[in-house]
Amino acid sequence: SLLVPSVQELAKQAITKVPERYVHPNQDPIVASNTNNSLPQVPVIDLSKLLSDDATELENLDHACRDWGFFQLINHKVNPSIVENMKIGVEQFFNLPIEEKKKFWQTPNDMQGFGQLFVVSDEQKLEWADMFYINTFPLYSRHPHLIPTIPLPFRDHLETYCLELKKILVKIIGSMEKALKMKTNELLEFFEDPGQGLRMNYYPPCPQPENVIGLNPHSDSGALTILLQVNEVEGLQIRKDGMWIPVKPLSNAFVINIGDMLEILTNGIYRSIEHRATINSKNERISIATFHRPQMSRHIGPTPTLITVERPALFKTIGVADYLNGFMLRKLHGKSYIDVVKI
Ligand code: SIN
Ligand code: FE2
Repeated sequence: SLLVPSVQELAKQAITKVPERYVHPNQDPIVASNTNNSLPQVPVIDLSKLLSDDATELENLDHACRDWGFFQLINHKVNPSIVENMKIGVEQFFNLPIEEKKKFWQTPNDMQGFGQLFVVSDEQKLEWADMFYINTFPLYSRHPHLIPTIPLPFRDHLETYCLELKKILVKIIGSMEKALKMKTNELLEFFEDPGQGLRMNYYPPCPQPENVIGLNPHSDSGALTILLQVNEVEGLQIRKDGMWIPVKPLSNAFVINIGDMLEILTNGIYRSIEHRATINSKNERISIATFHRPQMSRHIGPTPTLITVERPALFKTIGVADYLNGFMLRKLHGKSYIDVVKI
């Protein structure tokens, strides 16, 4: 990525007009949730029921992953203090003085640290957001100047949070295996010692919210994303049947979505769905997306049980590292990279 200035600092100045570099001229209209009550809502899935093999809930999970690629997870049993500490920590972290944050700013051609991702030219329009991205697992993918420099107690809270989310990942993948009537471990084996990364997003309010975008429409490259909407301000929208549907912040829930790699592994049965983050004029919004994928050295393709005469393989096999590298070299633009592995 190329280096970019802080949007949080820019938004602190009393500007009335957005600088040209952040103006996105042809944005799809934003579907305002309060003007259209008939919009469908992202499904809600109860993890406790999944873990007790409740047949109806496994079916609900199956439908959510086929039709939506997104769901809100409730009754996940992550200790509320772990989530609360994470929320407080991330707010304080973004509110550190800019001099402090400079220690964490991205360096050329590296995605970890404060900045923006997918910036490939100086002419490119930028997003109305700052993000802080770090690899958390495997341990060797961490940078010594990032996590070890995060102030305590946030650093410890973050470590706890990452481990909890890896446990959720295993529970959800295990339930998907059952919902898809796969052999035990057929999908789970791809998630032994998974790669994990954390992207914390800070979206400042903007005087011209309809002219900017917080995060460009995209699908996620990895397998499973677990998102925490930190301060319950709306902004995430997903594309469904030609509409942009807002994902309403739900307290004590995680938003879960399927990424390209899980679409590939499930032979297109579970779908990776385009989504974006919008901005409003009044409130800052903070979210934490945690990405999970199989190890870099692995290869992914449709799993054998999900290839049938009626449903031949839709994708070629590709290395996880190759997929990620190709994905990261482009602008973030819709759901398009997966085409490179389509048969
Ligand atoms: C967000 O809800 O802030 C963005 C989610 C994402 O990372 O795509
Ligand atoms: Fe995403």
